[in-house]
Amino acid sequence: MSSSSTITDQITWPLRLAREGDAAALETLIPLSVRALQAPYYSQAQMEAALGPVFGVDRQLIRDGTYFIAEQDGAIVGCGGWSRRRSHYGGDSGREGEDGLLDPQRDAARVRAFFVHPAWARRGIGRNIMAACERAIIESGFRSVDIVATLAGEPLYASFGYAVVESYDIATVNGLSLPVVRMTKSMERRV
Ligand SMILES: CC(C)(COP(=O)(O)OP(=O)(O)OC[C@H]1O[C@@H](n2cnc3c(N)ncnc32)[C@H](O)[C@@H]1OP(=O)(O)O)[C@@H](O)C(=O)NCCC(=O)NCCS
Repeated sequence: MSSSSTITDQITWPLRLAREGDAAALETLIPLSVRALQAPYYSQAQMEAALGPVFGVDRQLIRDGTYFIAEQDGAIVGCGGWSRRRSHYGGDSGREGEDGLLDPQRDAARVRAFFVHPAWARRGIGRNIMAACERAIIESGFRSVDIVATLAGEPLYASFGYAVVESYDIATVNGLSLPVVRMTKSMERRV
């Protein structure tokens, strides 16, 4: 569908799984997304401190085949994924050792690292990636999902029925902190 469609909220974005070779493009996209779309919620200093350690590429998600990409005319315009591993956030660059696997019977799957290009915000990319994540999470046998969401991400996840269960600050460099919310949702089928 053409990007000039006036029914932007009905666009269904074709998604593909991310490949290792996408990492450089993702490293370009993430700061663009953060600096524009998080600006109403965080100070410039907070965003700069979080870029890298908190907002960065997690190659483990790419290797696991749980990270989705939306493209427009060959350029990546959005990304996001889910995880069967313990980390709630953060790029892999600062991680020491392997990110341990979760148990689908006992643990909540994670939803991770959604970043949309500011020129393509609010056109349903986040929603399409989220729907793909939830489908894959259910197929993988998880019964609940845990998200540590930015204040910019909270409305997207709330629109999928996630509830805030905790608000806290992630400590970043220079004594700064980033307020986030932990959101959860049960994936058990209601009968
Ligand atoms: C959060 C983010 C991924 C949303 O992506 P998006 O493609 O713009 O979201 P969508 O267009 O799919 O929005 C789906 C729904 O989420 C909600 N939503 C998304 N952005 C919103 C906003 N800024 N304000 C209010 N509601 C919003 C709305 O209910 C929206 O539906 P609607 O447009 O029909 O009202 C994007 O804003 C982003 O990249 N932010 C910066 C990085 C970040 O903080 N990511 C979250 C990490 S946890």
